Amino acid sequence: MSAEKTMKLNLKIWRQKNADSNGSIEDFQLDGVSTDMSFLEMLDVLNEQLISAGREPIAFDHDCREGVCGCCGAVVNGQVHGPDEETTLCQLHMRRFHDGDTIQIEPWRSRAFPVIKDLIVDRTAFERIQQAGGFVSVSTGSAPDANTISIPTRDAEKAFDFAECIGCGGCVAACPNGAAMLFTAAKVAQLVTLPQGKLERSSRVLTMVERMDAEGFGDCTNHYECSAACPKGVPIEAIAVMNREYLRATFLSPEGA
Ligand code: FES
Repeated sequence: MSAEKTMKLNLKIWRQKNADSNGSIEDFQLDGVSTDMSFLEMLDVLNEQLISAGREPIAFDHDCREGVCGCCGAVVNGQVHGPDEETTLCQLHMRRFHDGDTIQIEPWRSRAFPVIKDLIVDRTAFERIQQAGGFVSVSTGSAPDANTISIPTRDAEKAFDFAECIGCGGCVAACPNGAAMLFTAAKVAQLVTLPQGKLERSSRVLTMVERMDAEGFGDCTNHYECSAACPKGVPIEAIAVMNREYLRATFLSPEGA
């Protein structure tokens, strides 16, 4: 049985009308926050109070609230997705905080992720990187066909590790350079680890890296903050795989074997 308690919190939340306006931190006091609430439920309660008072609610992204869709995310007291390791913001619970705590909540900060409103940033740059090559265009058949291709367990497990990426953008927010290497590398490494993804390996890595650079993300200088902050624990090894693939593709003609 859970020992539910309630807390009073001081919230400092980034407010910004739109991409063109200057934002600032606004202070809120919230009473009666249950330790059993998720972080997003705590924001829901605040928003209900703001709406009742005729004020503009805090805009924040969310969808599944189960840690699978990658929609949610904010920097909580300077930490991407908050203080819990390998945990999305929607899976963070208020029992992690204490009565009287001050919590600062800010959006992802990156040149390539402009703020749309309050805590919502534009992450369509990720979609454009994915569209540049993060797919397999040969016919791979149906699920039973896939099961007839024997793949060493080690490769299948490794591909799953890379496929854990939910595209939340936390890696970019955590990186001092605002690099998107872990996101891009997770897609490249996942696909090249499987036989279905090997056919387009050269063109894929070249076009995805080109798109990543064009979107204004920074360069990787091996801080490893991306992997440490990743709510899905995507391994840093993905970046090594992508760098190797990129070198290989540069020295071979596209689609070279
Ligand atoms: S809302 Fe889907 S991962 Fe958090």
